[in-house]
Formats: sequence, structure tokens, C-alpha cells
Amino acid sequence: MPTYAPIPTIEWHDDYAISLDALDLDAESLFGSLDDYIRSINNRLGAEVIRNKLSALEAHLLRHFEDEERLMAEIAAAGTDAHRREHAAFALRLRAIRRMRQSEVVRAHELLILFRTWIAGHLTVRDREFGRLIAATRPVPWSVAQADGVPA
Ligand SMILES: [Fe+2]
Repeated sequence: MPTYAPIPTIEWHDDYAISLDALDLDAESLFGSLDDYIRSINNRLGAEVIRNKLSALEAHLLRHFEDEERLMAEIAAAGTDAHRREHAAFALRLRAIRRMRQSEVVRAHELLILFRTWIAGHLTVRDREFGRLIAATRPVPWSVAQADGVPA
């Protein structure tokens, strides 16, 4: 059996948050799904287990994109079409990686490149813009009394 250095994972950082709690919590758990997949390879859990972890990660990422897109549709956010196209491109790339006829180690490294691209080019740029847009659309009441309709 070939030997290889353990594959490094990518950890969640609070800097990645876009100030939308539900999406941020889910994005953080997405990094957990990535870690789960990487660990399954490092711990040599077997081809079927590893494949299932990758499928679970893919399903999680697609669900995350759908949740975002649902929110975008709710507020008819500007730039929604371009944002959706980026999601679709990531989804396609992820599917292609899952289908690669390469070793699991090569596949995992390709996936890590995709994740880094997603973080640097989408999560901390496009998603953050969307977070600001949502915040502007749903301003936080300036006081509890105002929120309850009680004159301040
Ligand atoms: Fe997004």
C-alpha cells in the first residue's frame, strides 16, 4: 500500500462569516463535513466509507447553495443570476471531482483546491456582499421598544 503524508484539512474561521447566522452556522458545519471526508482518507476507513463521506459533503454543499438562493429569491437580491451561476460552476466542479478516475488522495487535493477557491473567490466576496444586502434589507430595529411598537 502506498504511503503518503496526512492530507491537511481546512478549518473554519470566524472571518469567513457573512453575518447571517443560519448560513454561517451551516457553512461552519460544511467545514466539518469536509474534515470528516479528509479524516476518512487519512484514517483509511475504506473505499465505500470514503465515497459516502464525499457524497455527504457534496449533498451538504448543494443544500447550502439552495438555502442561500432561497434567501436571495425572497429579497429579489441584485446579482442573483451571477451568484447562482457561480454556485452552479462549483457544483459542476465538485461533481467532476467526485467522478475523477484518480486515487482518493488526488481527489482530496483537488477538492481542497476547490474549497480554497470557494473561500477566497466566493464565500468571502460574493456571499459577504449578499450578507450586507440582506442586512440593509432587514434593518435591525434601533431599540426593543421600537420593535414592539411602543413609543420610545
Ligand atoms: Fe453563495
